[in-house]
Amino acid sequence: MSKATPAARLNEGKKMSESQDQPWTVLRLLDWTTDFFKRKGSESPRLDAEVLLAHARDCERIELYTAFAEEPEEEQRVAFREMVRRRGEGMPVAQLVGYREFYSSRFRVNDATLIPRPETEHLVVETLDCAKQFSLNRPLQIIDVGTGSGVIAISVAQSCENAVVTAVDISAAALKIATWNAQKLEVADRIKFMQSDLLTAVEQPERFDMICSNPPYVSEAEYKALSPTVRDFEPRGALVSGPEGTEVIAQLLEQTPDRLQIGGRLIIELSPMIADACQALALANSAFGDLRFIKDLDGHRRILSLQRT
Ligand SMILES: C[S@@+](CC[C@H](N)C(=O)[O-])C[C@H]1O[C@@H](n2cnc3c(N)ncnc32)[C@H](O)[C@@H]1O
Repeated sequence: MSKATPAARLNEGKKMSESQDQPWTVLRLLDWTTDFFKRKGSESPRLDAEVLLAHARDCERIELYTAFAEEPEEEQRVAFREMVRRRGEGMPVAQLVGYREFYSSRFRVNDATLIPRPETEHLVVETLDCAKQFSLNRPLQIIDVGTGSGVIAISVAQSCENAVVTAVDISAAALKIATWNAQKLEVADRIKFMQSDLLTAVEQPERFDMICSNPPYVSEAEYKALSPTVRDFEPRGALVSGPEGTEVIAQLLEQTPDRLQIGGRLIIELSPMIADACQALALANSAFGDLRFIKDLDGHRRILSLQRT
């Protein structure tokens, strides 16, 4: 039984009914939802709440800050409430709103595509840095293997005007989204999309200047331990490589020497947990040299960059 005095209980009851009478302003909706997402275990509860409310109100997230006292219309509140419910069940915010920002552009995503991660921007930066070191009197030939929503191929094409990009994926559904993104971001004329198991169906050009890839690199055991928000909503084929996590990268390392120009670069995203194993695989192949790792913001080895010697 409560030890509160009758007066305190009365006061508490009064506060609760006052709070129920408060209008559901933007600020109150954000505070309530942040608290709800926190309890559901979200790693970014405030951000999630803001992105969803901005989407329901069809405005930019920043615009919420000058609208704290406004009361969203009933229709917007209904749409927001539904998204909050589904987020509470684990659905990723990017799938709820249908997009994710990556390298300063907005990319459409759905349940056929991996949701682009910020770490992958390091791969784009390394690719663009390496691209500057080529001095060719022809377009730079770059391939993105496992393009997903097309973030790597499109970001590279946007920033490197001399690049002609091939983008492949084993998933036809992902390629549809990637093609839509390339059209929307106006680089479709410099990207050729095609379905292929790694490089096997790619005939032209015979050799690329650069091969980049963010392949599946999660092991079966790691997959089981992933958060339900990832495991239950993102495509398994975009995440899992096999029992070790290194299988797809090993295949790519095998296929690359015949498809890369001498002096060309292979740039692969990986998990820090398999960095040693991938380094050993690369060093065992005499076709590669100048091996270096690029670390992510947490200081973990995240990108493997190799030269075809
Ligand atoms: C980790 S996701 C990367 C997606 C996107 N590049 C990104 O960085 O957000 C891996 C992608 O590789 C594709 N994939 C998996 N196995 C493949 C294979 N054998 N050949 C080509 N693509 C493959 C998946 O469909 C998925 O789109």
